Amino acid sequence: MLTLLKLLKDGRFHSGEALGAALGISRSAVWKQLQQLQAELDLTIHKVRGRGYQLAHPLLLLDADEIRSDVRSPAWPVHVFECIDSTNAKALEMVGAGEQAPFVVLAEKQSAGRGRRGRVWSSPYADNVYYSLLLRIEGGMRQLEGLSLVVGLAVLDALSEQGVKGAGLKWPNDVLVGSRKLAGILLELVGDPADVCHVVLGIGINVNMRTSAAIDQQWTSLWLETGEQHDRNRLVSSLNRHLEAYLHQHAAGGFSALQAQWEQRHLWQGKNVVLIAGNQHIEGQVLGVDRQGALRLSVGGVEKSFNGGELSLRLANPR
Ligand code: BTN
Repeated sequence: MLTLLKLLKDGRFHSGEALGAALGISRSAVWKQLQQLQAELDLTIHKVRGRGYQLAHPLLLLDADEIRSDVRSPAWPVHVFECIDSTNAKALEMVGAGEQAPFVVLAEKQSAGRGRRGRVWSSPYADNVYYSLLLRIEGGMRQLEGLSLVVGLAVLDALSEQGVKGAGLKWPNDVLVGSRKLAGILLELVGDPADVCHVVLGIGINVNMRTSAAIDQQWTSLWLETGEQHDRNRLVSSLNRHLEAYLHQHAAGGFSALQAQWEQRHLWQGKNVVLIAGNQHIEGQVLGVDRQGALRLSVGGVEKSFNGGELSLRLANPR
């Protein structure tokens, strides 16, 4: 089935006869495989009498060699999968089975992409980037402080290289254009955070996605922002390069070395917000982040800091 997809990925018309000849199967077997492709990968394939079959738009598939061929990017091993539950889950499973960190896991599609606070990350086939970088952390808690915020800086730099304008961060690590989400970040950790542990930096970027009925919040994509199809292999190389640079700075100087940069790119700096922590709603004004990456709020004139994966932020007066 995937060989058939590779024949169609150029977005041109291919006759049933030519596809069958290339695969050594009958035209009716081609038809069956096309039905399967549409059902399993949710792809739209047009059929035109006299011309054949054509994908609704061309696909640029992920290619580990192409990603690693960018000499400016780190030589991290890159593992590309077709369809898996979650790249974060796969990376953690691989390190459990003895794979040496660092390494990158990518997928064309996730059947159970994980978002923050138990949400599902919509992951259609070959449209977006589903990326996990598995790292071994040896320096104790200091090496983890603010790490997820640092990932946001790398994602923003990679996006601006793709020509996206006006993207910024929302604490702790949403990447937004205005109020629309372009990328999300989820860190998961195994081992002893005070000693040696492994952490997976999971990043989802909406790249060539044009429509989605499955996302229940405001979202955007590179395609919607720039009006162009983007090469995900180049985006991943660029992400690797920016991540390596920021991780290096973070390892050397801790989050405090990047704190001011992060605040400059925080879209909600100075805004009145509501912080939701379980049943509690705390109203305050955003002052910034502290040296550990915790959110600093002025609550009734008193400065308070908040940290934790289960917190979420809303604007107090959205317009
Ligand atoms: C969020 O809710 O904003 C975080 C979304 C993180 C999604 C990415 S996609 C790649 C990696 N694998 C996952 O299962 N989740 C992360």
